[in-house]
Parts: sequence; structure tokens; C-alpha cells
Amino acid sequence: MSKQTQTARKTVKDIAAAKGATPLVCLTAYDAPTAALLDAHADLLLVGDSVGMVVHGLASTVGVTMEMMILHGQAVMRGSKQAFVVVDMPFGSYETNADQAFLNAARIMKETGCQAVKIESGAYAAHQIAHLVERGVPVMGHVGLRPQAINVDGGFRAKGRTLDERSRVMAEAKAAEEAGAFAIVIEGVAEDLAAEITAAVSCPTIGIGASNACDGQILVTPDMLGLFDWTPKFVRRYADLNTAISQAVAAYAADVRARSFPAKAETYSLRKPEA
Ligand code: KIV
Repeated sequence: MSKQTQTARKTVKDIAAAKGATPLVCLTAYDAPTAALLDAHADLLLVGDSVGMVVHGLASTVGVTMEMMILHGQAVMRGSKQAFVVVDMPFGSYETNADQAFLNAARIMKETGCQAVKIESGAYAAHQIAHLVERGVPVMGHVGLRPQAINVDGGFRAKGRTLDERSRVMAEAKAAEEAGAFAIVIEGVAEDLAAEITAAVSCPTIGIGASNACDGQILVTPDMLGLFDWTPKFVRRYADLNTAISQAVAAYAADVRARSFPAKAETYSLRKPEA
């Protein structure tokens, strides 16, 4: 292997070293051209199972398959050069037991070339996390609001608002850390709980809807680019792609109907015969 191919990407050590330092910049990515644009700015790209909702139009992440994660993981690896790339393990691919988790995590890593996987880690998943880490698979945990559990929770609901729930989320984070997770996503919890978890675990926490108290932030990229007409409260829209795309497509449709596209400059003509 050439030296060049070994050196470029951030490693799990770079991510772990960000604990308490400059906040980690993390974004979701699903395709090669977008990954190429994000790569210059992001420390970590997550091929999230949110792909099911924001790319494939599913109502939740529950229907996402291994094949979908692998296909999008391959595209993101092709598009990016320096970011640390994590691929989500989809619902049903790791919960049964540690062997199932390892076989599927190994398949994701072999077929995509990604550097780590993410598991939505209820306390039960600590066993799976330890099993994977011992066998060479870096794991990112995910606590608080766990989108794969919406059918138990009755919808996408912020977590940690009762004392019981607070100690459950804290226990899940501690269990993920003790099992060897190199980082933990905290989703949809109040600021004080995010701060407590961040102080209690030795690995970086990455917040989404979990305040500024975390060691890094992640957003679903199409949300922060304003692709949809609705975004959750915790998302800041850095662009308005919804309007930009609608206006561009309306202009194209008008030009086609008026026969003003394509113009002469956009049209091939016969080559002049050679003299
Ligand atoms: O699937 C996803 O995009 C995620 C982020 C919300 C962290 O898990």
C-alpha cells in the first residue's frame, strides 16, 4: 500500500483527542459529491441511517437495510479524503447478540472501507460494543433520543425529562463508555443532562439537539442546508436549498416550455469539413 493512501484520514485517536478541546465538527453524508464538499470542513462524516428518511423518503429509520448502509457508505468513502467516516448499523443488524453484531459490523467495514460503526446503544448493547471493540471494530454509541426505538417511545421525543429517564440515559452513556465506545452521540436531551454526561464520560460526546455542552456537534446535512420546508427546533439552517432548488427548477421548466432552452450556445452543430 502506498504511504499516501495510509496517511490522509483522521483516525479514531484524533477523534478521541478532541475531548474537552476544540469542538468536533460532524455532519451526516450519504453520497460522493456531497461528501467531497463536506470533507474539507468536517472532522467526522456519519453515514447515518437517517438516509432512509432524508434520501429514500421513509417515515422512520426502522426500514433501513444493511444493503442501503453499505451502498451509501461506499459512496461517502469515495467522495471523502480526510474526514473520519462512521457508518450506522441499521435496526435489526446488531440487537440479537454479539455474534450477529460482529458479522454485520465486519461486513460494513470490509465492503465500505469505513473506519467505525455507530450503534444506538440502550444499556443492553454494552455487550455488543465490548465484543466489537475487542475484535477491532471501533464503535460510536448513541444515547438519548434513539430514532430506531420510536415505535416503543410512540414518536420522536426528547429524552431525560423525568428523573427516571435521566438516570437511564446517563446509565446508557456510562455503559457505552465502559464498553469501549470511542465517542457517544447524545440526541434530544436537555442541556444540563448533556453537560453531566459529557463530564462523566472520558470519550467525546457529540450533540444533536443536546446543547453546546457537548464535545462536538452533528447535524443531518439536508436539514442544515434547508432542503426541507420544516426543520426541528435544534437545527440552524445555514442555507435555503428548498427555495434555491424550487426557483432553479421553475426557471428551467419555463425555459423548456418557451423553447429558450437549449440556446444555440448549448447545442452541437455539424463539424466543418476538414480542408
Ligand atoms: O442517522 C443519523 O443521521 C444519526 C444522527 C442523527 C446522529 O444518527
